[in-house]
Amino acid sequence: MTIYLNGEYMPIEEARISVLDRGFIFGDGVYEVIPVYSRNAFRLAEHLRRLQNSLDGIRMQNPHSVDEWTGLINALIERNAGEDQYLYLHITRGVAKRDHAFPNPPVRPTVFMMSSPLSAPPAALLKSGVCAVTAQDNRWLRCDIKSIALLPNVLLRQAAVDAGCAETILIRDNSFMTEGAASNIFVVKGGKLYAPPKDNLMLPGITYDVVLEIAAANGIPFELRRIAVEEVFEADELLLTSSTKEVLAITQLDGKPVGDGKPGPMFARLLGLYQDFKREVMRAG
Ligand code: PDD
Repeated sequence: MTIYLNGEYMPIEEARISVLDRGFIFGDGVYEVIPVYSRNAFRLAEHLRRLQNSLDGIRMQNPHSVDEWTGLINALIERNAGEDQYLYLHITRGVAKRDHAFPNPPVRPTVFMMSSPLSAPPAALLKSGVCAVTAQDNRWLRCDIKSIALLPNVLLRQAAVDAGCAETILIRDNSFMTEGAASNIFVVKGGKLYAPPKDNLMLPGITYDVVLEIAAANGIPFELRRIAVEEVFEADELLLTSSTKEVLAITQLDGKPVGDGKPGPMFARLLGLYQDFKREVMRAG
Protein backbone atom coordinates (compact mmCIF):
# COMPACT_ATOMS: atom_id res chain seq x y z
CA MET A 1 0.00 0.00 0.00
CA THR A 2 1.45 3.34 -1.08
CA ILE A 3 0.66 6.34 1.08
CA TYR A 4 1.38 10.07 0.78
CA LEU A 5 3.13 11.92 3.57
CA ASN A 6 4.33 15.53 3.40
CA GLY A 7 5.24 15.63 -0.28
CA GLU A 8 6.33 12.03 -0.79
CA TYR A 9 4.72 8.76 -1.81
CA MET A 10 6.05 5.72 0.05
CA PRO A 11 5.11 2.24 1.31
CA ILE A 12 3.02 2.61 4.49
CA GLU A 13 5.68 0.72 6.49
CA GLU A 14 8.18 3.51 5.79
CA ALA A 15 5.93 6.38 6.90
CA ARG A 16 7.14 8.18 10.04
CA ILE A 17 5.79 11.17 11.97
CA SER A 18 7.08 12.88 15.08
CA VAL A 19 5.59 12.03 18.48
CA LEU A 20 5.27 15.81 18.89
CA ASP A 21 2.83 16.01 15.98
CA ARG A 22 -0.17 17.99 17.23
CA GLY A 23 -2.45 15.38 15.70
CA PHE A 24 -0.88 12.77 17.99
CA ILE A 25 -0.70 15.04 21.06
CA PHE A 26 -3.97 17.01 20.83
CA GLY A 27 -6.02 15.47 18.00
CA ASP A 28 -5.43 18.91 16.43
CA GLY A 29 -6.39 18.29 12.82
CA VAL A 30 -9.11 17.46 10.34
CA TYR A 31 -9.77 14.68 7.84
CA GLU A 32 -11.80 13.57 4.85
CA VAL A 33 -12.93 10.22 3.48
CA ILE A 34 -13.45 10.16 -0.29
CA PRO A 35 -14.83 7.16 -2.17
CA VAL A 36 -13.26 6.24 -5.51
CA TYR A 37 -15.33 4.32 -8.08
CA SER A 38 -13.70 2.90 -11.21
CA ARG A 39 -10.62 4.94 -10.23
CA ASN A 40 -12.57 8.24 -10.19
CA ALA A 41 -12.67 10.21 -6.93
CA PHE A 42 -16.38 10.82 -6.33
CA ARG A 43 -17.51 14.44 -5.77
CA LEU A 44 -13.94 15.55 -5.22
CA ALA A 45 -14.88 19.25 -5.39
CA GLU A 46 -17.52 18.76 -2.66
CA HIS A 47 -15.14 16.79 -0.44
CA LEU A 48 -12.45 19.46 -0.88
CA ARG A 49 -15.00 22.16 -0.07
CA ARG A 50 -15.95 20.33 3.13
CA LEU A 51 -12.23 19.98 3.93
CA GLN A 52 -11.85 23.74 3.49
CA ASN A 53 -14.79 24.33 5.87
CA SER A 54 -13.18 22.00 8.42
CA LEU A 55 -9.84 23.83 8.10
CA ASP A 56 -11.59 27.20 8.44
CA GLY A 57 -13.37 25.83 11.52
CA ILE A 58 -10.05 25.08 13.25
CA ARG A 59 -8.33 28.23 11.93
CA MET A 60 -5.81 26.42 9.73
CA GLN A 61 -4.51 27.50 6.35
CA ASN A 62 -5.20 25.01 3.60
CA PRO A 63 -1.75 23.68 2.64
CA HIS A 64 -2.85 23.07 -0.97
CA SER A 65 -5.00 24.62 -3.68
CA VAL A 66 -7.84 22.59 -5.18
CA ASP A 67 -5.66 21.92 -8.25
CA GLU A 68 -2.78 20.72 -6.09
CA TRP A 69 -5.08 18.44 -4.07
CA THR A 70 -6.54 17.06 -7.28
CA GLY A 71 -3.07 16.22 -8.61
CA LEU A 72 -1.95 14.63 -5.33
CA ILE A 73 -5.14 12.60 -4.97
CA ASN A 74 -5.09 11.34 -8.55
CA ALA A 75 -1.45 10.33 -8.13
CA LEU A 76 -2.37 8.38 -4.98
CA ILE A 77 -5.18 6.57 -6.79
CA GLU A 78 -2.74 5.84 -9.62
CA ARG A 79 -0.20 4.30 -7.21
CA ASN A 80 -2.73 1.97 -5.58
CA ALA A 81 -4.43 -1.09 -7.04
CA GLY A 82 -8.17 -1.56 -7.09
CA GLU A 83 -10.95 -0.08 -9.17
CA ASP A 84 -12.82 1.03 -6.06
CA GLN A 85 -10.90 2.61 -3.21
CA TYR A 86 -11.55 4.92 -0.36
CA LEU A 87 -9.12 7.70 0.36
CA TYR A 88 -8.35 8.98 3.82
CA LEU A 89 -6.90 12.54 3.96
CA HIS A 90 -5.54 13.82 7.24
CA ILE A 91 -4.07 17.25 8.01
CA THR A 92 -2.70 18.30 11.38
CA ARG A 93 -1.35 21.60 12.67
CA GLY A 94 2.16 20.12 12.49
CA VAL A 95 5.02 19.37 14.85
CA ALA A 96 5.82 21.76 17.73
CA LYS A 97 6.79 21.88 21.40
CA ARG A 98 3.76 20.81 23.43
CA ASP A 99 1.61 23.87 24.12
CA HIS A 100 -2.14 24.00 23.64
CA ALA A 101 -1.99 27.36 21.83
CA PHE A 102 -1.14 27.37 18.11
CA PRO A 103 2.59 27.28 17.27
CA ASN A 104 3.76 30.85 16.70
CA PRO A 105 5.06 31.34 14.08
CA PRO A 106 2.98 28.58 12.41
CA VAL A 107 4.78 25.37 11.47
CA ARG A 108 4.36 23.21 8.37
CA PRO A 109 1.15 21.17 8.62
CA THR A 110 1.40 17.38 8.43
CA VAL A 111 -0.42 16.04 5.37
CA PHE A 112 -1.11 12.32 5.19
CA MET A 113 -3.22 10.37 2.69
CA MET A 114 -3.85 6.67 2.24
CA SER A 115 -6.01 4.47 0.06
CA SER A 116 -7.91 1.37 1.20
CA PRO A 117 -10.04 -1.08 -0.78
CA LEU A 118 -13.70 -0.06 -0.97
CA SER A 119 -16.30 -2.78 -1.17
CA ALA A 120 -20.02 -2.21 -1.36
CA PRO A 121 -22.05 -3.70 1.51
CA PRO A 122 -22.57 -7.43 0.88
CA ALA A 123 -25.93 -8.55 -0.53
CA ALA A 124 -26.79 -10.40 2.68
CA LEU A 125 -26.53 -7.15 4.67
CA LEU A 126 -28.66 -5.27 2.15
CA LYS A 127 -31.27 -8.00 2.51
CA SER A 128 -31.26 -8.27 6.30
CA GLY A 129 -30.50 -4.68 7.26
CA VAL A 130 -28.41 -3.87 10.32
CA CYS A 131 -29.20 -3.22 13.95
CA ALA A 132 -28.48 0.01 15.80
CA VAL A 133 -28.63 1.33 19.34
CA THR A 134 -29.32 4.85 20.58
CA ALA A 135 -27.12 6.93 22.88
CA GLN A 136 -26.90 10.49 24.12
CA ASP A 137 -24.94 12.68 21.72
CA ASN A 138 -22.23 13.86 24.12
CA ARG A 139 -19.97 15.41 21.47
CA TRP A 140 -19.04 19.08 21.19
CA LEU A 141 -21.07 21.73 19.33
CA ARG A 142 -18.99 21.76 16.12
CA CYS A 143 -19.87 18.35 14.69
CA ASP A 144 -19.87 20.01 11.24
CA ILE A 145 -16.05 20.01 11.47
CA LYS A 146 -14.57 16.67 10.38
CA SER A 147 -12.15 16.66 13.30
CA ILE A 148 -9.62 13.87 13.80
CA ALA A 149 -10.41 14.13 17.55
CA LEU A 150 -12.91 11.28 17.37
CA LEU A 151 -12.86 9.86 20.89
CA PRO A 152 -16.60 10.50 21.50
CA ASN A 153 -17.44 8.89 18.13
CA VAL A 154 -15.12 5.97 18.95
CA LEU A 155 -16.85 5.34 22.30
CA LEU A 156 -20.31 5.79 20.78
CA ARG A 157 -19.60 3.39 17.91
CA GLN A 158 -18.14 0.85 20.34
CA ALA A 159 -21.43 0.90 22.26
CA ALA A 160 -23.07 -0.40 19.06
CA VAL A 161 -20.41 -3.07 18.57
CA ASP A 162 -20.78 -4.16 22.23
CA ALA A 163 -24.49 -4.71 21.50
CA GLY A 164 -23.64 -6.70 18.33
CA CYS A 165 -24.85 -3.81 16.15
CA ALA A 166 -23.54 -1.70 13.30
CA GLU A 167 -24.23 1.85 14.40
CA THR A 168 -25.25 4.16 17.25
CA ILE A 169 -27.93 6.77 16.56
CA LEU A 170 -27.19 9.92 18.53
CA ILE A 171 -29.82 11.84 20.50
CA ARG A 172 -29.14 15.41 21.70
CA ASP A 173 -30.52 16.66 25.01
CA ASN A 174 -32.94 13.67 25.30
CA SER A 175 -34.80 15.49 22.59
CA PHE A 176 -33.83 15.09 18.93
CA MET A 177 -31.72 12.96 16.59
CA THR A 178 -28.52 14.35 15.08
CA GLU A 179 -26.78 11.55 13.13
CA GLY A 180 -24.94 8.26 13.60
CA ALA A 181 -21.54 7.85 15.26
CA ALA A 182 -20.03 7.67 11.73
CA SER A 183 -22.99 8.13 9.38
CA ASN A 184 -26.06 10.24 8.66
CA ILE A 185 -29.51 8.91 9.51
CA PHE A 186 -32.82 9.22 7.64
CA VAL A 187 -36.28 8.46 9.03
CA VAL A 188 -39.13 7.21 6.84
CA LYS A 189 -42.76 7.74 7.88
CA GLY A 190 -45.89 7.45 5.74
CA GLY A 191 -43.89 7.16 2.49
CA LYS A 192 -41.88 10.32 3.20
CA LEU A 193 -38.19 10.72 3.91
CA TYR A 194 -37.10 12.94 6.82
CA ALA A 195 -33.62 14.07 7.78
CA PRO A 196 -32.19 16.72 10.07
CA PRO A 197 -31.12 19.91 8.28
CA LYS A 198 -27.38 20.55 8.08
CA ASP A 199 -26.22 22.53 11.09
CA ASN A 200 -23.37 22.59 13.62
CA LEU A 201 -24.63 19.39 15.28
CA MET A 202 -23.96 16.99 12.39
CA LEU A 203 -21.46 16.31 9.68
CA PRO A 204 -22.80 17.48 6.30
CA GLY A 205 -22.55 14.12 4.59
CA ILE A 206 -21.79 13.88 0.89
CA THR A 207 -23.85 10.66 0.70
CA TYR A 208 -26.69 12.50 2.52
CA ASP A 209 -26.64 15.03 -0.34
CA VAL A 210 -26.67 12.25 -2.94
CA VAL A 211 -29.69 10.57 -1.33
CA LEU A 212 -31.60 13.86 -1.22
CA GLU A 213 -30.72 14.62 -4.85
CA ILE A 214 -31.88 11.16 -5.88
CA ALA A 215 -35.12 11.64 -3.92
CA ALA A 216 -35.72 15.04 -5.53
CA ALA A 217 -35.02 13.73 -9.03
CA ASN A 218 -37.40 10.80 -8.61
CA GLY A 219 -40.35 12.47 -6.95
CA ILE A 220 -39.74 10.92 -3.54
CA PRO A 221 -41.17 13.33 -0.97
CA PHE A 222 -38.72 14.50 1.68
CA GLU A 223 -38.50 17.10 4.40
CA LEU A 224 -35.49 18.47 6.25
CA ARG A 225 -36.35 19.36 9.81
CA ARG A 226 -35.46 18.53 13.37
CA ILE A 227 -36.49 14.93 14.18
CA ALA A 228 -37.80 14.24 17.68
CA VAL A 229 -36.53 11.16 19.48
CA GLU A 230 -40.07 9.69 19.50
CA GLU A 231 -40.17 9.89 15.71
CA VAL A 232 -37.04 7.76 15.53
CA PHE A 233 -38.68 5.04 17.61
CA GLU A 234 -41.96 5.28 15.67
CA ALA A 235 -40.35 5.27 12.21
CA ASP A 236 -41.58 2.93 9.47
CA GLU A 237 -37.97 2.68 8.28
CA LEU A 238 -34.56 4.01 9.30
CA LEU A 239 -31.69 4.44 6.82
CA LEU A 240 -28.01 5.03 7.35
CA THR A 241 -25.69 6.67 4.82
CA SER A 242 -21.94 7.18 4.51
CA SER A 243 -19.24 7.17 1.85
CA THR A 244 -18.05 3.71 2.89
CA LYS A 245 -21.42 2.09 3.82
CA GLU A 246 -23.43 3.76 1.01
CA VAL A 247 -27.10 3.20 2.00
CA LEU A 248 -28.18 0.62 4.58
CA ALA A 249 -31.49 -0.19 6.25
CA ILE A 250 -31.58 -0.19 10.04
CA THR A 251 -34.08 -2.92 10.87
CA GLN A 252 -33.67 -3.13 14.63
CA LEU A 253 -33.24 -0.34 17.16
CA ASP A 254 -32.39 -0.92 20.82
CA GLY A 255 -33.44 -4.55 20.39
CA LYS A 256 -36.88 -3.79 18.87
CA PRO A 257 -37.89 -4.13 15.21
CA VAL A 258 -38.06 -0.96 13.11
CA GLY A 259 -41.42 -1.14 11.29
CA ASP A 260 -41.90 -4.80 10.46
CA GLY A 261 -38.22 -5.53 11.12
CA LYS A 262 -37.31 -5.92 7.43
CA PRO A 263 -35.80 -3.43 4.96
CA GLY A 264 -38.81 -1.47 3.70
CA PRO A 265 -40.04 -0.15 0.34
CA MET A 266 -38.29 3.24 0.68
CA PHE A 267 -34.96 1.50 1.23
CA ALA A 268 -35.56 -0.81 -1.73
CA ARG A 269 -36.40 2.16 -3.96
CA LEU A 270 -33.47 4.31 -2.84
CA LEU A 271 -31.01 1.42 -3.01
CA GLY A 272 -32.01 0.68 -6.61
CA LEU A 273 -31.72 4.35 -7.55
CA TYR A 274 -28.40 4.65 -5.70
CA GLN A 275 -27.02 1.63 -7.55
CA ASP A 276 -28.14 3.10 -10.89
CA PHE A 277 -26.50 6.39 -9.93
CA LYS A 278 -23.31 4.60 -8.95
CA ARG A 279 -23.16 2.80 -12.29
CA GLU A 280 -24.16 5.73 -14.49
CA VAL A 281 -22.64 8.72 -12.69
CA MET A 282 -20.09 7.74 -10.05
CA ARG A 283 -18.24 5.24 -12.22
CA ALA A 284 -18.31 7.55 -15.22
CA GLY A 285 -16.15 10.13 -13.41
N1 PDD B 1 -17.56 9.11 8.21
N2 PDD B 1 -21.47 11.71 10.12
C1 PDD B 1 -20.31 11.31 10.68
C2 PDD B 1 -20.08 11.59 12.12
C3 PDD B 1 -19.35 10.64 9.90
O1 PDD B 1 -18.18 10.27 10.45
C4 PDD B 1 -19.63 10.38 8.52
C5 PDD B 1 -18.66 9.68 7.62
C6 PDD B 1 -20.86 10.80 7.99
C7 PDD B 1 -21.24 10.58 6.54
O2 PDD B 1 -20.55 11.47 5.66
P1 PDD B 1 -20.22 11.05 4.16
O3 PDD B 1 -21.49 10.66 3.51
O4 PDD B 1 -19.63 12.27 3.56
O5 PDD B 1 -19.24 9.89 4.24
C8 PDD B 1 -21.75 11.47 8.82
C9 PDD B 1 -16.48 8.53 7.43
C10 PDD B 1 -16.91 7.58 6.39
C11 PDD B 1 -15.41 8.00 8.37
O6 PDD B 1 -15.17 8.67 9.37
O7 PDD B 1 -14.81 6.95 8.09
